[in-house]
Amino acid sequence: MLVNNKHYRSIWIHPGDEHVIQVIDQRYLPFEFRVEDLKSVEDVFIAIRDMHLRGAPLIGAAASAGIYLSLLNLSPSDDPIEYLAQKAAYLKSARPTAVNLAAAIDRQLKALSGLSSREDMIFKALQEWERLVEDEVMNCRKIGEFALPLIEKISREKDGLPVNILTHCNAGWLACIDYGTATAPVYLAHEADIPVHAWVSETRPRLQGARLTCWELREQGVPYTLIADNAAGYLMQNKLVDIVLVGSDRTALNGDVANKIGTYMKAVAAKDNSVPFYVALPSSSIDWKIRTGKDIPIEERDENEVRFAEGMVRGRPSRVRIAPLHSMAYNPAFDITPAGLVTGLISERGICAASREGLTSLFPDLVSGKDTGY
Ligand code: MRU
Repeated sequence: MLVNNKHYRSIWIHPGDEHVIQVIDQRYLPFEFRVEDLKSVEDVFIAIRDMHLRGAPLIGAAASAGIYLSLLNLSPSDDPIEYLAQKAAYLKSARPTAVNLAAAIDRQLKALSGLSSREDMIFKALQEWERLVEDEVMNCRKIGEFALPLIEKISREKDGLPVNILTHCNAGWLACIDYGTATAPVYLAHEADIPVHAWVSETRPRLQGARLTCWELREQGVPYTLIADNAAGYLMQNKLVDIVLVGSDRTALNGDVANKIGTYMKAVAAKDNSVPFYVALPSSSIDWKIRTGKDIPIEERDENEVRFAEGMVRGRPSRVRIAPLHSMAYNPAFDITPAGLVTGLISERGICAASREGLTSLFPDLVSGKDTGY
């Protein structure tokens, strides 16, 4: 997508050095556009754990690159299989909820199985990383194309008045390499001159909505309004929201959805006010081995993310304390929205019900466990 009218993805290979992967350091947005060089598996681990980069599909792409970068340091004395298994376990421990992390690493290990020469493994790992990146970009584009008719229908019903879309966290191109998931139909509608307006939930404690989604929408010229997380229910009660679009970090086979903390409350409010609540996700964010949301690990992050807020103070990125000293704090980073509150899942193969039957209708090959290369 565009940044100062120049096309960017959120991860790419250094144009002058293919041993370096570059990412946008999202910690500094929207105040500073900073690019970070990732040169080792350790750089990737830290960038994922400390959220220099975040968002399920991007976490997967970074982890895939981490396996490639790790091979650059494989020495002749290392047993390649043991070495890779160790690096894979290390990378998988960076964050627990987004299933893309482990799935992308397993995809690399499968692609590398049977290879023994270091050169062959490096070549194959880079190729597999590039394939994954193109798959995720195409998945998001298709999600946008399948979801666009939902927006077009509302636009017709409103005689062309702006379609008010509420979103939570950042499920945009920053999180997904390009287009985004929840944002893809918004960008395609805007490109097609269908009037849209986004309600952007700030998304405490790390403010991915306020910092990242607002920045993305501004750069694309899409009208948006920032709201406090707690304002969403009030907006729905007052018929100010036509549709809710969010992403997912891990969706279970029964359609239960793990996403940024606060998503569940928006789903409850949407149900109570008959507002369609859609989850946009590539198949890489579906856990084909987990039956229900109860089995999805929920990350608990540092309590100081809750005790403090980050922002710009006198022109400098700063952190301010917002609670009395020594206040107890608790910081679950994700929650589970039960399938029953989800109007539909929007994937690269189309829209289906949030259920095993729905997923089977679009992904019979994956539900049955018959592997199709992911
Ligand atoms: O903690 P984060 O910022 O990685 O959480 C991200 C989200 O919850 C996104 O909504 C999700 O990863 C989907 S991105 C397409």
